[in-house]
Amino acid sequence: AAAEKGGHDYFMLKEIAEQPKAVADTLLGRVDASGALTLDEVRIPAAELREVDKVVIVACGTAFHAGLIAKYAVEHWARIPCEVEPASEFRYRDPILGSRSLVIAVSQSGETMDTLMALRHAREQGSKVLAICNTNGSTIPRESDAVLYTHAGPEVAVASTKAFLTQLVACYLVALYLAQVRGAKWADEIRAVVRDLARMPGEVERVLETMEPVRELARSLAGKDTVLFLGRHVGHPVALEGALKLKELAYMHAEGFAAGELKHGPIALVEEDLPVVVVVPSPRGRSVLHDKIVSNIQEIRARGARTIVIAEEGDETVAPYADHLVRVPVTPVLLQPLVATVPLQVFACELATARGNEVDQPRNLAKSVTVE
Ligand code: G6P
Repeated sequence: AAAEKGGHDYFMLKEIAEQPKAVADTLLGRVDASGALTLDEVRIPAAELREVDKVVIVACGTAFHAGLIAKYAVEHWARIPCEVEPASEFRYRDPILGSRSLVIAVSQSGETMDTLMALRHAREQGSKVLAICNTNGSTIPRESDAVLYTHAGPEVAVASTKAFLTQLVACYLVALYLAQVRGAKWADEIRAVVRDLARMPGEVERVLETMEPVRELARSLAGKDTVLFLGRHVGHPVALEGALKLKELAYMHAEGFAAGELKHGPIALVEEDLPVVVVVPSPRGRSVLHDKIVSNIQEIRARGARTIVIAEEGDETVAPYADHLVRVPVTPVLLQPLVATVPLQVFACELATARGNEVDQPRNLAKSVTVE
């Protein structure tokens, strides 16, 4: 009933709106007064974590996209090589694992069979498994060595939203914790990022307050067949997630690409008035990436694409090439997915509504897939 949905038409809208709280709750109690991380739940001894020589992340669907973003965080902050693989592929290629591999299984439900089979395989090889999970006492955390729970609260809509944002937070926390455990020279940077994370609930809230133009744009595109999504760096998995949301909800052909790959094939798809969503990295820090993506936007626009540009507040260089400009708050480079994903969720949800689709229960999909 309407009360269950907190006054929203769909659970998905309620869950999108709950994201600031979900992010805040997932951070709660995991940082001490000095700004250091206290992840007591990660029961794997620090001595063992210092010996880890490879992190392997396995997950499915939206959780897999969280894993793709986690790779950037693990490699940048903890300086440990990190692989990410769809759980359904993992054990069939006889992956190289050992006692120094740390396997992270990310799952909202904790019941996804593909992810469960991947983690069982990893444990058989002697690897430690850390679960990142939203469901207390579910099978994946029960079979893992340790679990870091995301505190998104129950997620009912099949298309994952708030669970995704909290998976990102949990992944950032694990990456920072690994960095902390493995070397004090990172202490200052860790504290700075932890402070930035604490600001994120407020930033996500600000994004939610500015979504009306995105909804309007979505409605205007209801008759389209295809939407492309481009991104670089952590914006690439964000593009993949934006495309997945659109497939799941709007039943549209949607594809996410690494923007640099555009010229190696996908640009052939660009034709007059094709909507292309571009996730633009911050112009600060990695400005090389920013400049490259600006030229990607110019290339597709010259071929007639209708550009929908997601860019940081204050980034003026993209404005001339954006048919539609969606602003997101300034964040550190690695944390941008927490704000950049939100407009894509709103976009897909509104497009689904405009196309008359069932938002909370898309055709052919299940919230949790308990068969391989
Ligand atoms: C299903 C759902 C997706 C979800 C995936 C992984 O396919 O429809 O929304 O991302 O399973 O689910 P999990 O519970 O393991 O995160």
